[in-house]
Amino acid sequence: AELGAGLPAGRLAVPEAELSVPGGLPDPLVCADGAPVLTPADWWERRRPELLAAFERHVYGRTPEGAVEVGAQVLAEDAALDGRATRVETRLTFRRPAVGAAGAPDSQGSQGSVAATVLTYLPASASTGSPAPVFLALNFRGNDVVENGSADHTEPVQPPWPLAELVDRGYGVATACYQDFDPDVDDFGNGVHPLFYAPGQNRPGEHEWGALGAWAWGLSRILDHLREDRRVDAARVIVAGHSRLGKAAMWAAALDERFAMAVSNNSGCGGVALSRRRVGETVEAITSRFPHWFCPAFAAYAGREETLPVDQHELVALVAPRPAYVASAEEDTWADPYGEFLGAKYASPVYELLGAEGLAATEQPSVDRPVVPSRVGYHIRPGGHAMTDGDWARFADAADRHLGKVSGR
Ligand code: GCU
Repeated sequence: AELGAGLPAGRLAVPEAELSVPGGLPDPLVCADGAPVLTPADWWERRRPELLAAFERHVYGRTPEGAVEVGAQVLAEDAALDGRATRVETRLTFRRPAVGAAGAPDSQGSQGSVAATVLTYLPASASTGSPAPVFLALNFRGNDVVENGSADHTEPVQPPWPLAELVDRGYGVATACYQDFDPDVDDFGNGVHPLFYAPGQNRPGEHEWGALGAWAWGLSRILDHLREDRRVDAARVIVAGHSRLGKAAMWAAALDERFAMAVSNNSGCGGVALSRRRVGETVEAITSRFPHWFCPAFAAYAGREETLPVDQHELVALVAPRPAYVASAEEDTWADPYGEFLGAKYASPVYELLGAEGLAATEQPSVDRPVVPSRVGYHIRPGGHAMTDGDWARFADAADRHLGKVSGR
């Protein structure tokens, strides 16, 4: 049955079985005042800014616009993968800008600066005149675990990434540990938040950024840095992430249109799974265990998802018309794979309005039948919550398809 007649204005009718709360889904193509979004100009000038502001106000919090002072120091630069790659480690440092001539020196002491170590693998060809497209993804457990894996299986488990395979396909990979930008604890005295506090402030306000906002900010700062490197094809930097970092990657791509493509792996609640389904992790569950990820205002929607002014398909829509690739895992029920599929599916009308093909599947595909050709892509694979080599291979397939195949080895 369709939740058709009787829906409030601005609601999209979807099959009743897809949601757990009444009222349909917010329609990405209807403005808050009920005005329909009929043209790309309506989208770019009215609806997109309105949706972005709604995600800031109600979900992730507003990212401050103020500048920080950035330093970059190359720690190491060597040949790797038997000469097929250049491996670079760079330490980025972020400081509160020095207060103007009349101002007091930085009163925050060591808290006035934050450092992140960025590890980059670039195909050797990037150094000889063919800038490489780059996958940029934060990691959970440290750059060394991305390279070498870890014998330690405490959660969240992070397998090593298929750096050689990606480099051989012509892609660079850039990463940093997410904790460098904001340690993942419900505490706002460290990480990048204090760099932006007003005098006397010690935590973000009701509608200000949480940890996901800080991680997304970090992704944009790494992008700034990559864009300065002539070995990087600045027009082809793909932001990707797994789980909480898949949430952050999608939010980063929504905020920062310089990202050419976005990949969400098993991002679940607060990522691309629809909150109104209340399947697996709910707004109540996520805001009680991880309140610091979001703005404080998001917690008010626990158990009241039907009142959320947005839902997560609109996060995918904010990436349009850039390619967005959503990946699920069959056993990852906490992330609600079907809800992730629907997040991709219901973003599609915005892609179509902008002249791009939305998800080329109306039903969830079966496992291992990836939908790569359309600008919104999707796959579900067997197995549990993880970002596997097979997932990475599909991300590269989608990037080949939509950003242009790069000449690997
Ligand atoms: C927890 C959390 C999820 C998150 C996941 C992860 O399971 O509930 O929302 O995506 O951690 O980041 O691995």
